[in-house]
Amino acid sequence: MWSENPIVQQCKVRFPLVQAPMAGVTTPRLIAAVCNAGGLGSLGAAYMTPSEIREAISEIRDLTELPFAVNLFAPAAAAYDQKTIDSAQKFLGRFRNELEIPHSSPDFSSLPVFEEQIEIILEEKPRVFSFTLGLPPLPLLERLKKENILIMGTATTFDEALLLEKWGVDAVIAQGAEAGGHRATFLNCADDPMLSMAALIPLLAHALKIPVIAAGGIMNGEGIAAALSLGAAGVQLGTAFLACPESGASRAYKDALLHSHSKTTLTDVFTGKAARMLHNKFIETYQQEKGPIAPFPFQHLLTKDIRTAAGKIDRTDLLPLYAGQNYPLITNLPASEIIPLLVEQTIDTIQKLNNDLIRKRKIV
Ligand SMILES: Cc1cc2nc3c(=O)[nH]c(=O)nc-3n(C[C@H](O)[C@H](O)[C@H](O)COP(=O)(O)O)c2cc1C
Repeated sequence: MWSENPIVQQCKVRFPLVQAPMAGVTTPRLIAAVCNAGGLGSLGAAYMTPSEIREAISEIRDLTELPFAVNLFAPAAAAYDQKTIDSAQKFLGRFRNELEIPHSSPDFSSLPVFEEQIEIILEEKPRVFSFTLGLPPLPLLERLKKENILIMGTATTFDEALLLEKWGVDAVIAQGAEAGGHRATFLNCADDPMLSMAALIPLLAHALKIPVIAAGGIMNGEGIAAALSLGAAGVQLGTAFLACPESGASRAYKDALLHSHSKTTLTDVFTGKAARMLHNKFIETYQQEKGPIAPFPFQHLLTKDIRTAAGKIDRTDLLPLYAGQNYPLITNLPASEIIPLLVEQTIDTIQKLNNDLIRKRKIV
């Protein structure tokens, strides 16, 4: 059924199902399990040092011989003023007091350097390099192409997708507003139209010459069938894999996803960039008191000690629990079972719709 599919053909996978890169969560075990089951596993390497990326790629290759993707955040224009940092730090003081940890200042020079990270990708040559949050420099993309690495860029609007196509990417990941994690928006961020996956895919599928991969709120075969009907060539699922045994999410995070009834909120309070996550006390405090926030990626570094301390004692009310809007549909099945289940559900959904329509046509 999927042998003619462009994602299947280009990525050399059995199914056009991509396990989303999720920085901090996507372990080599998860990626290999997805690849071995016929999907495309992706390593979210944005927060990793070059040597950590190399090590993770080597671990993936010990577990699978199949193609996989490595993902980075496009380089951000990282400027800040000390006054903003000081007021953001002052506000965070209350959480440090609550957790009884020292009021420390992070070392901003410890940020991962995109140009160093990408060199490892050029050397290790995974089948796919994907990116989000912006546009990497064109000469770098040209070097990746020379190494025969497929390139996928993330868009949340029509204009972003057109720009990515012009930039020469091989496929666009179209991220709807339902998506968990950071919102990929990089053009006119202040005027984000917040298009849903269902609004974005038909716009792009008709206008672009390259394949479109749908992301955001897809948790099962019904969601995949819907995205394919709208014109997507493939789908990328993140939240659906978060509670797998192979996922690197903590036990407390997985439990929250499996049992919580919270709404999800799009907020920049943890990192300085909008990301969708379960609503909790940390977010609520910022919203109520209009707390000052440093720009990305500085807020991410400022909150690091709080996230580390809260993580150690399972204080999920002070942690960023990234999740897409459809997280209540999550399961804790192994990734090796999720992929065949998604394939079966997708085929069942399409067949059922087909049968219903044929029956109705006969009645009419
Ligand atoms: C925990 C988490 C971390 C994420 N980290 C990344 C990342 O590092 N790079 C990236 O391109 N997308 C990242 N995303 C976004 C996903 O690529 C994808 O757009 C999203 O998961 C799709 O929505 P869904 O979670 O509803 O399936 C992340 C998503 C989650 C849930």
